[in-house]
Amino acid sequence: MGAQLRLTDLNLRFGGIKVLNDVGFEVEPGQIFGLVGPNGAGKTSLFNCISGHYRPSSGSITIDGEEVLGTAPATLARHGLARTFQHPALQLQATVLENVLLGAHTRLSGGPVEWALRLPRLARSERELRIEALTLLERNGLGWAAHRRADELSHGLHKGVELCRALLSRPKLLLLDEPAAGLPHSEVEQLIETVRRIRHDDDITVVVVEHHMGLIAALTDRVVVLDHGAKLMEGAAAEAQSDPRVIEAYIGKDAADDVA
Ligand SMILES: Nc1ncnc2c1ncn2[C@@H]1O[C@H](COP(=O)(O)OP(=O)(O)O)[C@@H](O)[C@H]1O
Ligand SMILES: [Mg+2]
Repeated sequence: MGAQLRLTDLNLRFGGIKVLNDVGFEVEPGQIFGLVGPNGAGKTSLFNCISGHYRPSSGSITIDGEEVLGTAPATLARHGLARTFQHPALQLQATVLENVLLGAHTRLSGGPVEWALRLPRLARSERELRIEALTLLERNGLGWAAHRRADELSHGLHKGVELCRALLSRPKLLLLDEPAAGLPHSEVEQLIETVRRIRHDDDITVVVVEHHMGLIAALTDRVVVLDHGAKLMEGAAAEAQSDPRVIEAYIGKDAADDVA
């Protein structure tokens, strides 16, 4: 079952700069929710607050009703949160498969002693995880790359590897930060299909940050538009696309007047 996410009056400051200003919205279980807005609007910072990498100055973040504000990223991962990054940082010397397997550390049973002794139970679960990781790579068109070193792959493919890594943790809530950036047009269609399938097969709640409005329109049930750290509007993707305030935020006041 996908998780419910609720943000209330979230504020984030760096020194004197207000990066997030009273942001609040709610994502229902199983929704694909879009987060859009111009560069610098605060989208990645918002993700960093949800994933525990940034500590908001005030507000509330709940996952399935449980307050998670201030919880460490590793703890959140064990509670079903996974994300990809706007700028993926893979282990470049490791293989693609090894990179995907890093997503499994939240699932491996046993503590440090079991790890050290490499008990049979652990070995078995490792084998199963390898098979699962390979299956995920296959499903995402990356089976051929499993044993390549990560630094042999293009930036666009790194995003696919990160997605597989995130999925291997079997999340209830998945945050995708600009998954289509740098992808050729043909692969954006593929990505749309992949995210649809993730929602359908695995019943995961997805929040996606993206500038590619075709992807946002095709995938999302609902969007929030951020501008200068504040919520500008919330609604269906089509409403956002035709909202003069949104057009103004993206391309300036004159263009917005032309459309209105
Ligand atoms: N660690 C940080 N320290 C200082 N300022 C930051 C930090 N992270 C983000 N910011 C600032 O927050 C604002 C929003 O950035 P970001 O969240 O990356 O926007 P977006 O993802 O919407 O493009 C920017 O002005 C950025 O400089
Ligand atoms: Mg960003």
